[in-house]
Amino acid sequence: MSILSGKKVLLGITAGIAAYKTASLVRLFIKSGAEVKVIMTPASKDFITPLTLSTLSKNPVHSTFYDKEDEENELWNNHVDFGLWADYMVVVPATANTMSKMANGICDNLLLATYLSAKCPIYFAPAMDLDMYIHPSTKESLDKLASFGNTIIPATSGELASGLVGEGRMAEPEDIVSFIEKDILSKLPLKGKKLLLTAGPTYEAIDPVRFIGNHSSGKMGFAIAKAAANLGAEVYLISGPSHQQIKHSLVHRIDVVSAEEMYNAAHTYFKGVDIAILSAAVADYKPKNAATQKIKKKDSSLEIELTPTKDILASLGKIKENQFLVGFALETNNELANAKSKLERKNLDAIVLNSLQDKGAGFATDTNKITIIDKDLKEKSFQLKSKVEVAKDIMNEIVNKIS
Ligand code: CTP
Repeated sequence: MSILSGKKVLLGITAGIAAYKTASLVRLFIKSGAEVKVIMTPASKDFITPLTLSTLSKNPVHSTFYDKEDEENELWNNHVDFGLWADYMVVVPATANTMSKMANGICDNLLLATYLSAKCPIYFAPAMDLDMYIHPSTKESLDKLASFGNTIIPATSGELASGLVGEGRMAEPEDIVSFIEKDILSKLPLKGKKLLLTAGPTYEAIDPVRFIGNHSSGKMGFAIAKAAANLGAEVYLISGPSHQQIKHSLVHRIDVVSAEEMYNAAHTYFKGVDIAILSAAVADYKPKNAATQKIKKKDSSLEIELTPTKDILASLGKIKENQFLVGFALETNNELANAKSKLERKNLDAIVLNSLQDKGAGFATDTNKITIIDKDLKEKSFQLKSKVEVAKDIMNEIVNKIS
């Protein structure tokens, strides 16, 4: 799966003959799983039609600050919204004129104003005739744009639209996409790191058909797995029984049922990882002797003797070397004090506290409200958010702590 899958790509098209290739580029971004929006400079519409790009991107295409629907209903195209929407902006082809304006803060069209307000990483693929490409003013623009943190997708050498042969050809659409994919991967903060994650509930067998379990859905843990993989980590996701699905080339799912199986799997991977996050709702007790045959109904009451399961988190805390170990605490009262004592008792580097007192937090909901406490007992509280957003917050905190 492409690293661009699920990402929002804003394509800015300027007036160069290579603009005709952006139709293929839109298709390739869509194929990689990205969502694509296109903005154009007014002059670029001479080279490719907005209708083509709108059809391929499945989104409206804009080239002015307002669209005239009819006399009364002029629609304002907010450049700030486009800039905030994008995960990545790609200016392609980037003409000498647009690059010079970008380098000097000129924003006399929608594309340039969007560029100036965008906070996301920006790529641009120059395309022009060879003499324009080597002109000192073009070089100056390229250097200035690079110094702003923008990434140049280098032009290649070959036959140019003028008939001349030399440097200035826009990189081919396939090469633009793979350049961006590689660049994103190489800059991910957890690239090369390995992460162990436990998620979901555990089921402790009473007999072959019955078990002791809990209502954990695994949603929080699976969201963390995805957030970590999106930051470049190779994730070993040890999951108890859960209906959650995950598809990511960096996530290896290991399914387990009982606390004992989760313990064994966690110990198999722990030595080789850099980070371990234990979000599973592990059963604290299991039946001492699981019946091998189905227990038959009787008139008398039934007693099942329970014995404690192994505490996976505490056991990893004991053997921890350089791993950054994170636990979860689900509390109903004295939340902060309980979480802090758990952090110290289990030798953790951080603990994620969710309180059942907070509406929308805890099991089986799509939202969560957390406080992260670090080794120095510093607390950081977050708003109620979707579990997907909470997972990103948790991973960003971990990235900040380990870097
Ligand atoms: N945990 C674990 N193995 C267990 C029990 C819990 O790895 N057998 C982990 C959980 O995944 C979680 C953390 O320990 O990260 C906190 O679990 P919790 O059950 O809340 O803590 P306990 O230490 O069991 O304390 P208490 O039940 O008293 O709250």
